[in-house]
Amino acid sequence: MWKFRDVISILDYTRDELEHLFSVTDVILERSLDVGKPLDGKIVATAFIEPSTRTRLSFETAAKRLGAEVINLEPHLSSMAKGESLTDTLRMLDDYANLIVIRSPYEGSAKHAADVCEHPVINGGDGTQHHPTQAMIDLYTIRKLKGRIDGLEVGVLGDLKYGRAAASFIYGLTKFNVKRIWLISPEPLSPRPELMDRLKRMNVDFVKTENLEEAVEDLDILYVTRIQKERFPDPAEYEKLRGSYVITKKLLSRASEDLKVLHPLPRVDELSNDVDDTPYQAYFIQAKLGVPVRMALIGLVLGVF
Ligand code: NCD
Repeated sequence: MWKFRDVISILDYTRDELEHLFSVTDVILERSLDVGKPLDGKIVATAFIEPSTRTRLSFETAAKRLGAEVINLEPHLSSMAKGESLTDTLRMLDDYANLIVIRSPYEGSAKHAADVCEHPVINGGDGTQHHPTQAMIDLYTIRKLKGRIDGLEVGVLGDLKYGRAAASFIYGLTKFNVKRIWLISPEPLSPRPELMDRLKRMNVDFVKTENLEEAVEDLDILYVTRIQKERFPDPAEYEKLRGSYVITKKLLSRASEDLKVLHPLPRVDELSNDVDDTPYQAYFIQAKLGVPVRMALIGLVLGVF
């Protein structure tokens, strides 16, 4: 089911497989992350050719907590800076490590890495659509805080076009039976046609709007995302759209008191600090859960769970 399988897209997983990951995560949390050192003697490599805080460091923490050692490719200090290709670089990592976690700005890099490497490859985010492990964490966070994913009204707000965390989260939701998905974005940042097609094909009840006010009272979950400045082909277009939404405590006063606000982080200006001390705040919990979910994932992929 999970063993030695590359993790490329959340779409490759069934609901049952995701539930299994969540159960393993539950056990890891029950044991306060102390599950011995089943990966003693193993090496995990991270190949991040794009900035990252949480994804890289929580993968590294997860691997170390399982007893593995970690090697990090630092692209600017590696021979990539001399012009070595990503493909050759990956071949080396495949010789050195038992598992490779990759992040890249280019669509399809993780699949390419999986084709080049014999060892399993995990996609830590490539391009604008796929960030499967973030979606796994997001779904697990909702299940943990709400006890279920089915039947919820979920708003996804911000950059639904270039944001791979948002896209993967929405794809992940289609594996469950949510009541409704609200897609809230400025029109130019609407989801890609292939994502819209999937929602239609899966008969998901969704509403597309530019207006958060319309949705806020009904939501159980509000997933906020950053407008992905670095992915705009035209900086002037970004300037027009920046600051389109700012989630504040005041704005949330009309929401249900059980609303949980998620955000894959980093935040820039779309989520005010004044939400941090409210019961709505779930984004720091979500970030913290990154470690146990990734421990479960690495353990499953390396066949020790
Ligand atoms: C996201 C990413 O890199 O796609 N961050 C993350 O992994 N938590 C979101 C973002 O950069 O906005």
